[in-house]
Amino acid sequence: MKELILYFSRADENYFGGSLKYIEKGNTEVVAEKAAALTGADLFKVEPVKPYSADYNTCIEQAKKDMQSGVRPEVVAMPEDMSQYDLVTVMYPNYWGTMPMHMFTVLEQIDFEGKTVRPVCTHEGSGMGKSEADLKKCCPGAVIKKGLAIQGSSVGRCDDVLKKWLEA
Ligand SMILES: Cc1cc2nc3c(=O)[nH]c(=O)nc-3n(C[C@H](O)[C@H](O)[C@H](O)COP(=O)(O)O)c2cc1C
Repeated sequence: MKELILYFSRADENYFGGSLKYIEKGNTEVVAEKAAALTGADLFKVEPVKPYSADYNTCIEQAKKDMQSGVRPEVVAMPEDMSQYDLVTVMYPNYWGTMPMHMFTVLEQIDFEGKTVRPVCTHEGSGMGKSEADLKKCCPGAVIKKGLAIQGSSVGRCDDVLKKWLEA
């Protein structure tokens, strides 16, 4: 079974347990790379044509506006030849209770018929939010497994729980 890890992640300024700090690599990217090392899956990062601001508060507002208007923001590229993958592990940060809108842009263009999808969401308190329900709408025909929620500020310590979930 061939697997793709399809993920969105943003570095720069973010909120960690009460304070703002700049990070070089986004939380979800840390998890995606750990998972790829464990499974040997291919990795594909969803890159916005217009990235959200490096400033946390500005980013929050931009993402809120996109979520409320339901836009499908442009992405730099789509993953190639999705037909080779049976398993797609979709990883994203919780943005306003669901996936970043760029994930909707990408997922809605993929034919998921016959594929298995497993979601991983990093968050800062609200877990998966309604992302699993939204994923079901974006991926008709897919079997969607129960998701894994990981607190963003603890991705450095998620190895055991991630390994167990990936093997389940
Ligand atoms: C625009 C934005 C919206 C967010 N909304 C939520 C939210 O609704 N619930 C939550 O628990 N965390 C929220 N967070 C926190 C992120 O989900 C969390 O920090 C995540 O690990 C970031 O992943 P990344 O570093 O891979 O981008 C939000 C963060 C941002 C930047």
